[in-house]
Amino acid sequence: MSQKIIVTGGAGYIGSHTCVALIESGFDVVVFDNLSNSQIDSLDGVARITGTRPEFINVDCTDITALRSAFATHRDAVGVIHFAAFKAVGESVSNPLLYYRNNLGGLINVLDLMREFDVPNIVFSSSATVYGVPEKLPVTEQTPLQPATSPYGATKVMGENIIRDTVRAYPQISATLLRYFNPIGAHPSAEIGELPNGIPNNLMPYITQTAAGIREYLNVFGDDYDTPDGFCVRDYIDINDLARAHVAALRHMLSGATGVGVFNLGTGQGTSVMELIDAFRDATGVDLPYRIAPRRAGDVPAIWANCDLASRVLNWRAVVPLNETLASAWRWQKHVSGIK
Ligand code: UD1
Repeated sequence: MSQKIIVTGGAGYIGSHTCVALIESGFDVVVFDNLSNSQIDSLDGVARITGTRPEFINVDCTDITALRSAFATHRDAVGVIHFAAFKAVGESVSNPLLYYRNNLGGLINVLDLMREFDVPNIVFSSSATVYGVPEKLPVTEQTPLQPATSPYGATKVMGENIIRDTVRAYPQISATLLRYFNPIGAHPSAEIGELPNGIPNNLMPYITQTAAGIREYLNVFGDDYDTPDGFCVRDYIDINDLARAHVAALRHMLSGATGVGVFNLGTGQGTSVMELIDAFRDATGVDLPYRIAPRRAGDVPAIWANCDLASRVLNWRAVVPLNETLASAWRWQKHVSGIK
């Protein structure tokens, strides 16, 4: 019988791609999601890709009573991948309590119920934001963490600590903290992808919406950073590679790893905003209209990952070339916008 995994936030962008990776690896997937920033249709996409529609429970992780019923039905699960959280940096500054309540309240409930129902493994969505403005690049998992620059970032730092303390107190629970760099792209089939609400905050959906004519031009935030070409540098990782890392993390714990593992998930390559615009044109033939705009408050000039630990311990590495990732992002946008 296949092993069951609970995926909170499984209808979202990273969640839906991870459902595909789990199903393709033979896991039985149950999605807990309140659809607050996701579409149930994404699970139809998962079904079209894999031939299996994950079971879905509409539940808010901050509602302990409802979440307990959902866990009670799936007490045979061998692990939880906890994606369900808010992720808009700006919104977290204007509405911090919303972020603390949702991101931390949800996590605490999940951990409490894992303990109650003896579900032994958790994978947690953390972020490169925990490194703040790093002194040395690339960052390894040993790079010192910096104080969070937004309530969103604070929920990731605190989330990691809540999990560490919980595992220390209840060693029957094992955890993997995955620090994502910048996930982009879509499933190559264009059946699932990122669906931002309103005006995108993040670069990739802003690029594809501009290419589709939904936005007039891209604002490039800052051209005078102390980087090789003056533009901010990030580590853009293909969403399908990122999804596979969750399966690798689970397998590692299921084969006996205990305690708390921490892994960077990136490509190990830094790419500037302008290099990404150029690469998008090369991959898709679309020349983006853009304007140089002032720096965005809180932006880190440059950050990319050293991912040797994940390669050594999880036997995982990013393999999808950037041009394929950009082509998949554009294919998805065309699908969503009905462009031939
Ligand atoms: C941001 C968050 C990060 C969060 C991630 C996912 C900050 C400082 N960090 O990462 O904590 O985990 O989103 O939600 O906000 N850019 C433009 N024009 C745009 C949009 C972005 O030039 O319209 C540039 C930014 O200045 C940055 C790069 O593109 O240099 C990537 O931005 P974005 O996609 O928002 O990701 P991060 O800021 O790296």
